[in-house]
Amino acid sequence: MRRTLIAGNWKMNGDLVTNAALLQAVRAGAQDVAAELAVCVPAPYLAQTQTVLEGSSVAWGAQDISVHEAGAYTGEVSGRMLKDFACHYVIVGHSERRSMHAESSVEVAKKTKQALANGLTPIVCVGETLSERESGSTATVVEAQLQPVLAEVSDQLKHIVIAYEPVWAIGTGKTATPEMAQEVHALIRKQLAAADNAAASEVRILYGGSMKPENAADLLAMTDIDGGLIGGAALKAVDFLAIAHADQK
Ligand code: PGA
Repeated sequence: MRRTLIAGNWKMNGDLVTNAALLQAVRAGAQDVAAELAVCVPAPYLAQTQTVLEGSSVAWGAQDISVHEAGAYTGEVSGRMLKDFACHYVIVGHSERRSMHAESSVEVAKKTKQALANGLTPIVCVGETLSERESGSTATVVEAQLQPVLAEVSDQLKHIVIAYEPVWAIGTGKTATPEMAQEVHALIRKQLAAADNAAASEVRILYGGSMKPENAADLLAMTDIDGGLIGGAALKAVDFLAIAHADQK
C-alpha cells in the first residue's frame, strides 16, 4: 500500500514573514489530512521550517543536494547539512535544474545516491519537453533520465520517490490529462519493475505540473499516481491543503 504524498516545491519564493504564516497554516491544516504532506523549501529557510514544523505530521526537505560530501564547492549544500536540519526529503533533477544548470541524468543519479547515503529520501524528477512529447519520444526520454538513477541506487530503490513532471506543464497552467499522466506513470513503474520487481510496487510516483485543487482529484485517482509535487499551488496553504484533501485513496 503506497501512502499518498503531497509535496510542495516552493522554488525560490518566500521570506521569513510569509513563510511563517504559510508553515503555520499548513501545520494546522495537516491534522485532518490522510495523505502525507511535505514542503521543500529554499535552503536558507530550513531552520525556520524545522522550528515551525517540528512535532507535526508535516515533513520538510530541500530542493537540491550536492554530489559531494564536503569541501571546496562554493555555493553547494551537502546532504549532511540537510540532515542537520532534520530534512526528510530532497528534490533532485528538477527540470529547472536540468535546463538552467545543465544537470545531466548522470549527475542526478549521483545526487540521488548522496541523498540516500545521508538518510534522505530523494524525490527524483523526470519529464519530457513539449517538442519531445510532440515528436513521440516521451517514453524514451523518461526512460533515459531514469536509467542512470536505477543503476546507481540498486538495492535502495524502495527508498526513493519519483516525480513525473512534463516540462510543458510546469508553471504553465497546462496539465497532463489523468490518462496521459497515468500512461507515463505505468511506463515508469514497468521500468522500476525490471530493475527490482518487489520495490516497484512500493515506490511512490508523484505527478507534477500545474496540479491544483480543481484537477487534483482526477489525477490522484489514477492507479499509478501516488501523489503530487506541487509548485505554484503550494504557496497558498488553502490550495495546498485542498489538493491533499482531494486524495481519495
Ligand atoms: P507547478 O510546478 O505546480 O507550479 O507547475 C511544479 C514543479 O515544478 O514541481
